[in-house]
Amino acid sequence: MNPRVTSASAGDRAVRVRLDDGPELQLHAFWLRDACACARCRHPKTRQRLVEIADIPPDVRPLSVAVDAAGALAVTWSPDAHGPHESVYPAAWLRAHTSAAPVSPPRTGWDATLARRMPDLDHATLDTPAGRLAFLDAFAALGLVRLRGVPHERGEVARTAERFGHVRATNYGRIFDVASVPDATHLAYTDVALALHTDNPYRDPVPGVQLLHCLESSARGGDSVMVDGVTLAERLRAEAPDALEVLRTTPVPFRYRDATCDLRREHPMLRLDAAGTLVAIHFNDRSMEPLRLAPERLDAFYAAFRRLDALTRDPALRLVFRLEPGDLVVFDNERILHGREAFDGQTGRRLLQGCYADRDAFDSAWRMAHDES
Ligand code: OGA
Ligand code: ZN
Ligand code: ZN
Repeated sequence: MNPRVTSASAGDRAVRVRLDDGPELQLHAFWLRDACACARCRHPKTRQRLVEIADIPPDVRPLSVAVDAAGALAVTWSPDAHGPHESVYPAAWLRAHTSAAPVSPPRTGWDATLARRMPDLDHATLDTPAGRLAFLDAFAALGLVRLRGVPHERGEVARTAERFGHVRATNYGRIFDVASVPDATHLAYTDVALALHTDNPYRDPVPGVQLLHCLESSARGGDSVMVDGVTLAERLRAEAPDALEVLRTTPVPFRYRDATCDLRREHPMLRLDAAGTLVAIHFNDRSMEPLRLAPERLDAFYAAFRRLDALTRDPALRLVFRLEPGDLVVFDNERILHGREAFDGQTGRRLLQGCYADRDAFDSAWRMAHDES
């Protein structure tokens, strides 16, 4: 049922309203005038704002308020350069903009038991609205989806990314091959194990989404390992809140350099929101540089880092699975740590094709699919 405004009154610098049975809301006068969505304040077609801060008198006041027939709040404002201004605020708008609703989809932390209910989806279902919604919901909640039955074609990884956003090209190319090659310039392009990490913490912005498409996996070994950063942060908060605080506040320098580039970025390993849940994790031993930290703070940093690292090795948190040809895993690179076990390049071949995409496009696709107003 649509909410309705049940009462409204004007103060000097505020408007007080009550919605159905909710508590009384105290709305700041300038804030409310600034939010007006009439055709003069917001373009009716593009929905973008036309009003600029200088257009509204700093001492704007509500002259009168009323509840209209639809249950919306109507306000007549003290005159600006164009005379008195009338605004209408639907009750649903008032409710949405005065509650602490998250702007991003809710997340659910997971551990090793996710293996028993792996978020698997058949690639062909992405063509249906229900399949697309299932993908976006699972990706938003878990930060990870495995697509199966993906066409065995080079470049398919980029076409999958483009269903939701745009490929983020980097110095590794628009797409990159992960395979063991002679004279590898990168540990990833050998057959050794890759410890859990997030990719490219040395980049600004860090790629938000990573896609890996398996084209060949006949070599012995090479299973994939993933750990959820949301769960890591929850465990740290419960078991070692001091370590969480150190990792949240200590800038860590990351760097990648080769003959063509020198990428550097300094930021804390953990970024949390105001409620204390994880926003981003940057975890990559291979690209860390010496910290510029006073010696007396290094003990605390190393202890906290070691604590987080020990959690990533807890078998109860590690999701282990094998990518087979036709599998494509899509994951949130600022949430999910990923790695692989060593493989034996003598026993067969292993070839993944990867690319990056920006996370905001995936969040946007989720909102569009849910028809958020
Ligand atoms: C990488 C990587 C995973 C794999 O190249 O950064 O994490 O399974 N590869 O080879
Ligand atoms: Zn207006
Ligand atoms: Zn990686």
